[in-house]
Amino acid sequence: MLVSVRDDFPFLQQDPTPIYFDNACMTLRPRQVIDAIVEYYERFPVCGGRSVHHHGMEVTMRVQEAREAFRTFLRAPDHEVVFMKNTTEAINLVAKGYPFERGDRVLITGYEHNSNLVPWHQVSHMKGIDVVVVPPTADMTFDMDCFQDELSRGAAMVSVVHTSNLNGYTLPLREVVEIAHDRDVPVMVDGAQSAPHKPVALGGLEVDFFALSSHKMLGPTGLGALLALPERLEAVEPLSPGGGTIKDSSYTGYVSAGAPDRYEGGLQHYAGIIGAKAAIDYLSRIGIEEVEAHERRLTARLTDGLLDIEGVTIIPPLDPAMRSGITSFILRGMNPHDVAILLDEIGHIMIRSGRHCVDSWFDSEHSNAWFEGVKVDGTCRASLYIYNTEEEVDIFLENVKGVMNFVADEGRIA
Ligand code: ALA
Repeated sequence: MLVSVRDDFPFLQQDPTPIYFDNACMTLRPRQVIDAIVEYYERFPVCGGRSVHHHGMEVTMRVQEAREAFRTFLRAPDHEVVFMKNTTEAINLVAKGYPFERGDRVLITGYEHNSNLVPWHQVSHMKGIDVVVVPPTADMTFDMDCFQDELSRGAAMVSVVHTSNLNGYTLPLREVVEIAHDRDVPVMVDGAQSAPHKPVALGGLEVDFFALSSHKMLGPTGLGALLALPERLEAVEPLSPGGGTIKDSSYTGYVSAGAPDRYEGGLQHYAGIIGAKAAIDYLSRIGIEEVEAHERRLTARLTDGLLDIEGVTIIPPLDPAMRSGITSFILRGMNPHDVAILLDEIGHIMIRSGRHCVDSWFDSEHSNAWFEGVKVDGTCRASLYIYNTEEEVDIFLENVKGVMNFVADEGRIA
């Protein structure tokens, strides 16, 4: 466990103590984040960017501080920070607002979360772009050769998941960006599962667009961000112009404000923005390198333990160092939802089960290969974070063994 963090999380103080391994879906919040949100509602619950009374100015200042915190955390000094509802909304903004033309090719991977797949399909219907899938390699990593091959046929944008929510694999972003930029192709990155877990330096990489969600990094729900290089963002048409997005308006038209304001129509989620900053402050105090090292240690232990259990298959890559805090697995003879329910009921252990919003991969020929030709319609996924402990991993493994024994007793393992 990272020194003393567990005491900060009210959720973990319950009896019986829950074992929370569903962090890729949503993390818990420390008291510091909850307090920051409550402070907003109790002390200055007003709008920012408009009213000049001192409470209004306080909110305006805190929103600016939050933008700065995101820039510092993601080492992105020159990126604009646009506050959005979540990663999905940020990707939708780029997909729909970018000036694509009929026949433009957008390259994605074969294991995208629906947030970085469905918007592109919609734009394909709306504008006639071609969505080109770069399938994963046999060991579920990024196929660089295939990517380069597709890129050489032309692309208007590359849009890739940085760390997969399905198997935890992180693609080589620096290489992807450099290769795309050599052809002057902008890169959009779904950073929902990377930013909370490992150091990300957007400035050094010159990533054009990067989307993330606060609820996966100790922050509140309903708050995400798009970080974008100003020269690329300029080309993106706002999707919800209105209050706060203009310099002036008349009966016949309007003059748009600059970024980020022109993308943030209407009053914003100030409590969320302030809570997200508190979450970033909290993570920064721990140190993101420390977070990554902690998850690696736990994932190694979890992997060793799972591989020792008869009937368990882990979705590759098997090397825990390549899987962030995420481990997706199946238990032979068991429906993943049944496993999740049993773990919850028997051990107060929360994991996620199912397709993890990566339906396209489960429906593709690439998934069948992993399960010896057997069509599997989902996995169990254990995803770890800063407050998880070795002891919890051991309890989890004991419970998985218990589930397997139960299955064996029922005669469900051939
Ligand atoms: N993206 C979230 C997950 O993987 C919903 O669980």
